[in-house]
Amino acid sequence: MSAWRFFLRFIEKPSSVGAVKPSSRALVRAMLAPIDWSRVGVVAEFGPGTGVMTRGILKRMAPQARLVAYEVDPLFARKLLNIADQRLHVRNVGAQQLDVGVDAIISSLPLNALPASVSHAVLSNAAKRLKPGGLFVQFQYTTMQERLLKRYFAVEKRRFVLWNLPPAFVYVCRKN
Ligand SMILES: C[S@@+](CC[C@H](N)C(=O)[O-])C[C@H]1O[C@@H](n2cnc3c(N)ncnc32)[C@H](O)[C@@H]1O
Repeated sequence: MSAWRFFLRFIEKPSSVGAVKPSSRALVRAMLAPIDWSRVGVVAEFGPGTGVMTRGILKRMAPQARLVAYEVDPLFARKLLNIADQRLHVRNVGAQQLDVGVDAIISSLPLNALPASVSHAVLSNAAKRLKPGGLFVQFQYTTMQERLLKRYFAVEKRRFVLWNLPPAFVYVCRKN
């Protein structure tokens, strides 16, 4: 799916899509670098959209690992089915419905734009489902939701990625 289609979806559903353009390669790299992929058996992705992070995760994860991608938008979820990889399982439901224990979570959810009740539900469930030692990695365009993240996770690192439109902050978090 093209960047143009992504932009049109943003016009239709700005608060859910939360970005005008899919993430850049630099942002994908910054999001996925903190994970030790050799130790990941099950990884969850929140808000895959057109799949730029999804493809990056599949490239890095082990052949026997599993990726469960939670995408609430039916159009995006349908398009993700075109990624031919048996390790990928797409769920067309909200990320708050993650129902398996995971070694890592990669989240692109627009926490700023989502209703507060949804952000709380997603983060509290994520903290519950993340296995001990696992990382929760989240990007945001502002630091406004940092307090919210700290309520559920220990923020280990915050990295600024300039090469994205708009530039973004990557939060690397662990279970408290
Ligand atoms: C900023 S876009 C990120 C897309 C892609 N991961 C990227 O980095 O380019 C946010 C995505 O989160 C999805 N989304 C919004 N609320 C969600 C929720 N509660 N559960 C799962 N996905 C959600 C949107 O449909 C959209 O695809």
